[in-house]
Amino acid sequence: MCGIVGVLGQGAAAPMLVDALRRLEYRGYDSAGIATLENGNLARIRAEGKLRNLAAKLLEEPLRGTIGIGHTRWATHGRPTENNAHPHATDKLAVVHNGIIENFRELREELIADGCVFVSETDTEVVAHLVTRQMRTMTDPVEAVGAVLPRLHGAFALGFIFEGQDNLLIGARRGAPLAIGYGEGEMYLGSDALALAPFTDTLTYLEEGDWVVLTRNSAEFYNEANQQVTRKKQKTQAGAFLVDKGNHRHFMAKEIHEQPEVIGHTLAHYLDMVALKVSLPFELPFDFKNINRLSISACGTAYLAGLTAKYWFERYARLPVEIDVASEFRYREAPLGKGDLSLFISQSGETADTLASLRYAKSCGQHIMSVVNVPTSTIARESSVVAATLAGPEIGVASTKAFTCQLAVLACIAIAAGRARETLSETEERRLVEELILIPGLVAEATKSESVISEIAHVLAKSRDVLYLGRGTSYPLALEGALKLKELSYIHAEGYAAGELKHGPIALIDEDMPVIVLTPKDSTFEKTVSNMQEVAARGGRIIVIGEAGTAFDAGLKAEASIDMASMASDFSAIVYAVPVQLLAYHVAFAMGKDVDQPRNLAKSVTVE
Ligand code: AGP
Repeated sequence: MCGIVGVLGQGAAAPMLVDALRRLEYRGYDSAGIATLENGNLARIRAEGKLRNLAAKLLEEPLRGTIGIGHTRWATHGRPTENNAHPHATDKLAVVHNGIIENFRELREELIADGCVFVSETDTEVVAHLVTRQMRTMTDPVEAVGAVLPRLHGAFALGFIFEGQDNLLIGARRGAPLAIGYGEGEMYLGSDALALAPFTDTLTYLEEGDWVVLTRNSAEFYNEANQQVTRKKQKTQAGAFLVDKGNHRHFMAKEIHEQPEVIGHTLAHYLDMVALKVSLPFELPFDFKNINRLSISACGTAYLAGLTAKYWFERYARLPVEIDVASEFRYREAPLGKGDLSLFISQSGETADTLASLRYAKSCGQHIMSVVNVPTSTIARESSVVAATLAGPEIGVASTKAFTCQLAVLACIAIAAGRARETLSETEERRLVEELILIPGLVAEATKSESVISEIAHVLAKSRDVLYLGRGTSYPLALEGALKLKELSYIHAEGYAAGELKHGPIALIDEDMPVIVLTPKDSTFEKTVSNMQEVAARGGRIIVIGEAGTAFDAGLKAEASIDMASMASDFSAIVYAVPVQLLAYHVAFAMGKDVDQPRNLAKSVTVE
């Protein structure tokens, strides 16, 4: 993930910016830069590689001025070069950016047609030119930013300073976190509390869609509709330890809301966003063309990521997949062919059953690939290929952002396998990659249903049993929904393939049994609607997670609906994971359960 900092200070801004960037190094980056205003004139220094390279340049060419912005960049659009490093600037402003501007291509074409000259390969530079062009008619920078923000699609955070304006700093949040800090006659901007810990412990976190106008003595907050709003100040403990809950009650809530940013960051690691193709960040010691069968094994939520990926590998790569929970796989003595591929998925990379299964597969002469969130873990070290998820530390015992990042990585690998096996054309790859690029923005959109979900959760909290239904890739998600609800609220819940309802579970249906149905508009949508009608005909209580109007169009009276944005269905499971996670979180919270550390559970099960 990229890191953003901004200082509106009394003393030299440059050393404060570098100090703050040092505290963001944990996020991973490949270039850095700062910009300041010296007597109102913009000045910028950037460097490829680590912060020490930037610091060395600043020794030779110090930047003066008491206002500035800084950035650590993890390359998404464009190579990790100095020229692509942030801040990006025009003669009017400098801007830093974290996340992905999904519609940067059409904006870039529009701006080039308007005479703008681009000097980098980044999506960020589009923002610099858009605001600059807006300032030709709206000379007030605040007005110009307010007019441009609605044109930007995706999940991102931004920081701006302006030529000649040495008492103005603007920040914006759309899906990627941003906080402001309060000093003595100073104000600060940062991606998280940690960046600002050297300066202050009094922060305000921008909410989804907010933007903020800072002077040394004021902070004006605006929402996505550009209405002025108030946002609360809070004390933070970030200085005390690396990870902070931000403005959330629990780590799990924070991690659910980090998903737009970390999924975007993970995708950027596996996709060439400009060429619109998959670009795996590792060499493969095998050719997918020569793989006859893929064997997947994992535990819990990680297993459900694998079950979801089974659909993708079989559909896009025509690769037969066998999958099993690791605790069974490790003892089943499956007849694995020499030279075939076994894939292990694990957030912690230390799960004993998964590790034992890996060792069994290795003993059969299989190629070993793992998808892990901890690249230094045991499972990673014993794999010949490690596909890292870039979810960052996941503190909540219930896995959320690691799960969706696993899905993002698995989707990319399945597409790469399809291309290698020539079962996926370049055009189809482009279509699928364009869909993946939209995912972070759709995930951010899905988090906006949280208040509706919280109300539904208060009703669900009174239930004794809950049933989740789904078809296709919504079937593993139905299982995940049930697992999340069980492990967080201790309510008994089951996930079922919707088509299986009539083969037994339909006997459970009555007015006491809430049935949560996942209905993305995919190829089995109509069949799932029929299953909802079977439930309704028996007086069942239906809660729909689907596009607005799904229940109405089906002539159904649902007890509640969680409306999802319209989207392509190939990877909808990544987006539909959000309401499933939020529902479990809010039921547990309503019941007063220990959300971050549910009873009997451990974050990493390193025993059998
Ligand atoms: C996830 O919500 C659960 N806490 C649990 O099922 C977990 O997914 C499982 O233990 C696997 O852990 P791993 O991903 O670290 O291997």
